[in-house]
Order: sequence, then structure tokens, then C-alpha cells
Amino acid sequence: MNKLKHLAIIMDGNGRWAKQRGLNRTKGHERGAEVVREITTYCANYEEIETLTLYAFSTENWKRPKMEVNFLMKLLERYLKNELETYMENEVRFETIGDLSPFSNGLKRAIKNLKEATKNNKKLTQIIALNYGAQDEIVRAVKRVLQENKEISVESISSALDTPYSEVDLLIRTSGEFRVSNFLLWQIAYSEFYFTKTLWPDFNSAELEKIIDNFKNRERKFGGI
Ligand code: IPE
Ligand code: IPE
Ligand code: MG
Repeated sequence: MNKLKHLAIIMDGNGRWAKQRGLNRTKGHERGAEVVREITTYCANYEEIETLTLYAFSTENWKRPKMEVNFLMKLLERYLKNELETYMENEVRFETIGDLSPFSNGLKRAIKNLKEATKNNKKLTQIIALNYGAQDEIVRAVKRVLQENKEISVESISSALDTPYSEVDLLIRTSGEFRVSNFLLWQIAYSEFYFTKTLWPDFNSAELEKIIDNFKNRERKFGGI
């Protein structure tokens, strides 16, 4: 049976979930944040899972209407401030990947405070991808390697990524889209993929459990026979 140490999720479909109900897209994002809490708690209490990486805002998502972008930033700031107890109760360490430099000072502070407050938590590392694009991450990593006068190699690039390289075992995308949308290109070289039609606000731990069972029984070959 395969071991699931690193799970990554492209949380997609918030807008469509809201639209189906005649609601504003922002309602889908609000509901999506609650699913983040449920899935993170589930993963923290699933012993084998060490890392959960969640795609929350891509380098391409700035193309959205300003009102939606602003709403997402506020929602994120509120989530990071209000969920401290959930992080502590479930012993979850908070980390990010992506270029945080364009964010507001308030959001940057909330990110920094939560990282600091949760840094000794050991059950799960939750990595939220914020203003994240894998191509951007790889370019920044290569620049770091060159600045340090190191040789370009798989190892040197891996260790210069936003968080030290950790291979993804299973990548899930919700909402029925079959694409990667610039998420974790380097780290998914040998990942197993699972695409579900479920929209992110309807996703839950019961479905995750079924997906993990499916993953457990797959044959992973890593180029061997
Ligand atoms: C994913 O849901 C959340 C973010 C990208 C922030 P979407 O907002 O992309 O929802 P759809 O794809 O429009 O339904
Ligand atoms: C990917 O979803 C980004 C996140 C889930 C944060 P998008 O909805 O932005 O991706 P595309 O545009 O459909 O590929
Ligand atoms: Mg989408």
C-alpha cells in the first residue's frame, strides 16, 4: 500500500458553486474557507499525512475583477486571524509558498504572526500557496542558486524552492477541470493525480477518505518495472 505523506489540492469551483445557487461568487469563497478548515483538521488527525499543500491564490488570479481579488485578500486575512485555535488544537504548523511581496501590510502581518505562533506544531504542516505560480517559484529558485554561486542541479534547485523540496504523493483537483494551472510543477514529477467533479465548497472528508483509499491501491512505479 502506498504511503501518503504529502497531499496537495487545487481547490477549484467556488465561483460555480455560488452561481448554481444564484449567489455572488464571494459566497462560494466563504464556504470554501470552511472546507479548508474541515480538510486540514482531517489531515492533521490522519497520522501518515505530514504535509498538506493548498492552492489558494495563483499568480494568474490577479486577472480577476478587483472586487473579487480584494474580497479574497480580506477573507484570507480574516481566516488566518480567526483560526489560530484550530491550528493549535490540531497541532498544525502554518507555512506558505509564493511571492508574498505584493500583499498588504495587514495580510503580511497576519501570515507572519500565524507562522510564528504555530511553528512548533508537529502533527501536520499546512502550506498555503499564495500568489503562487510554479514557474515563478522555479525561476526564483534558480536565481537563488546562481546568487549563491552554486552549481545548477536537481538538488540545488530543489533546496532553493519556497519550502525545501517535498515530493507530492497525491494531487487532487476539484470541480472537474483536468489541468494543473501552474501549481507545483517541480514537486509533482511523480505524483498520482485524482480529478473529482465535486466543487470545492461541496468537498468533504468523507470524499477525501475515498480518494485516499483509491490512491493507496494504485501501483506506483517511479520508472521501474
Ligand atoms: C477556486 O475557485 C478559488 C480560487 C481560484 C481563488 P474559483 O473561484 O476558481 O471557482 P470557479 O472555477 O470560477 O468555479
Ligand atoms: C487554480 O484555479 C488556482 C487556484 C485554485 C487558487 P483557477 O480557477 O484559477 O484555474 P484556471 O484558470 O481554471 O486554470
Ligand atoms: Mg476556477
